[in-house]
Amino acid sequence: MSTLVCVILTTLIATTLSSGANRETLEFLIGSRGRGLKNGCSSENHGKYRAAQCSKLGDTRAPPPGLPVNKTGLLVFADQRLASVYPIIQKFKSLITSDPLGITKTWVGSDICNYKGFFCDRPPDNDSATAVASVDFNGFHLAAPTLDGFLDQLPDVALFHANSNNFSGTISPNIARLPYLYELDISNNLFSGSFPAAVLGMNGLTFLDIRFNFFTGAVPPQIFTQNLDVLFINNNNFMTTLPDNLGNTHIRYLTLANNKFTGPIPGGIFKVFSSLSEVLLLNNQLTGCLPYEVGLLKEATLFDAGNNKLTGPLPFALSCLEKVEQLNFAGNQLFGMVPEVACELVHLTNFSLSDNYFTTLGPMCRVLIEKGVLDITNNCIPDLPFQKSVEECSDFIAHPRSCPQMWSYTFIPCMSPFSSGSVNPGMAPSS
Ligand SMILES: *[C@@H]1O[C@H](CO)[C@@H](O)[C@H](O)[C@H]1NC(C)=O
Ligand SMILES: *[C@@H]1O[C@H](CO)[C@@H](O)[C@H](O)[C@H]1NC(C)=O
Ligand SMILES: *[C@@H]1O[C@H](CO)[C@@H](O)[C@H](O)[C@H]1NC(C)=O
Ligand SMILES: *[C@@H]1O[C@H](CO)[C@@H](O)[C@H](O)[C@H]1NC(C)=O
Repeated sequence: MSTLVCVILTTLIATTLSSGANRETLEFLIGSRGRGLKNGCSSENHGKYRAAQCSKLGDTRAPPPGLPVNKTGLLVFADQRLASVYPIIQKFKSLITSDPLGITKTWVGSDICNYKGFFCDRPPDNDSATAVASVDFNGFHLAAPTLDGFLDQLPDVALFHANSNNFSGTISPNIARLPYLYELDISNNLFSGSFPAAVLGMNGLTFLDIRFNFFTGAVPPQIFTQNLDVLFINNNNFMTTLPDNLGNTHIRYLTLANNKFTGPIPGGIFKVFSSLSEVLLLNNQLTGCLPYEVGLLKEATLFDAGNNKLTGPLPFALSCLEKVEQLNFAGNQLFGMVPEVACELVHLTNFSLSDNYFTTLGPMCRVLIEKGVLDITNNCIPDLPFQKSVEECSDFIAHPRSCPQMWSYTFIPCMSPFSSGSVNPGMAPSS
């Protein structure tokens, strides 16, 4: 995989998903892109927090040992803000049902900045105060029935990362009140319910990772135009259509794979995501025909729409994906001729069209079979081995499918209007 740019899905995702979606490797991969927390800090600083220091303040600013408990046995905190989150943390601790790594053993006493998973910094609104600025529970394998009353009660938190735990429940609408939260990663947990709509109003939020949970229902289209860099929502049970008019998006990394997205792929979506390097729509329930606007994905190195219910011929516009290395349309209901222009893409190393109903294959594409680049097994190409039965192929052809704007299937948007191909790409079978 040669590039780490982005997508309707990133390289990371691509790597992990296409190689079997190993959840445990997710954070490692993310981390390797510089998104992991170092001492509780992201590669950037705490957003509105002073860039300054991301090392544990506890090392230099926490009260010296001996101070936490004064003579009356009461806890003494380095700052009122720490005193006020202490009961919140202790209450959450009492809800934890599994802690195989013994993390919460460290959650005792007043030195919160030295609890495992908690990190302190100067809050944006008071340069001399000390507050819990980030929480990093990644890989702690904690289990708790909810984060309610915890996450939403940490008023100074800027980063909350809780990848790979067994937290469940829904996400409280109260998180909308956290003024500094800009990275929220609750991926690979057991969260359910609808999309956490509270994030919609959170203008400071730039990173939202909720993949590998059990969220259901629709994804509010506004999320695509919010000021997010990263939106990972793959591997949930979202059931929704893809919005057509997305407007302007800031998203550089987007993953939609492995949900239950239904309906057609609107052409407009490719306009919006024309700078994404990976477009992963695999394992959804997308229907309809692939619009010629797919040719606008000039930066794409990976386009994966495998295992959907797409039909129609493949648009010639695929030949505009000059950087593409992997194209996957396996497991759909595509038919007609495989466009020769797509087989001429110079960087193509894996072109997967197996389990469709293609009937015709030209010489350029046949060369790719010999090179081991093109997989077209289980289609309807009469002179090739490992194809569907004649019965299955004629059954399919007996039920004609057509696409809107059939003219557009030979249209190549990256070429001048007069140089587009004139070869018939294979029209819908007609009875
Ligand atoms: C102990 O700490 C509590 C709470 O900060 C305070 O009210 C009390 O005066 C302290 N007692 C002593 C002896 O320092
Ligand atoms: C800022 O924080 C310090 C330390 O907690 C506190 O003593 C001070 O009163 C705070 N200032 C304001 C303006 O809140
Ligand atoms: C969640 O709990 C199950 C059952 O106890 C366990 O097998 C699994 O490893 C846990 N997952 C994480 C991420 O801790
Ligand atoms: C090509 O891509 C398909 C679909 O993503 C995948 O199943 C297959 O393993 C890939 N082949 C190679 C040689 O990488």
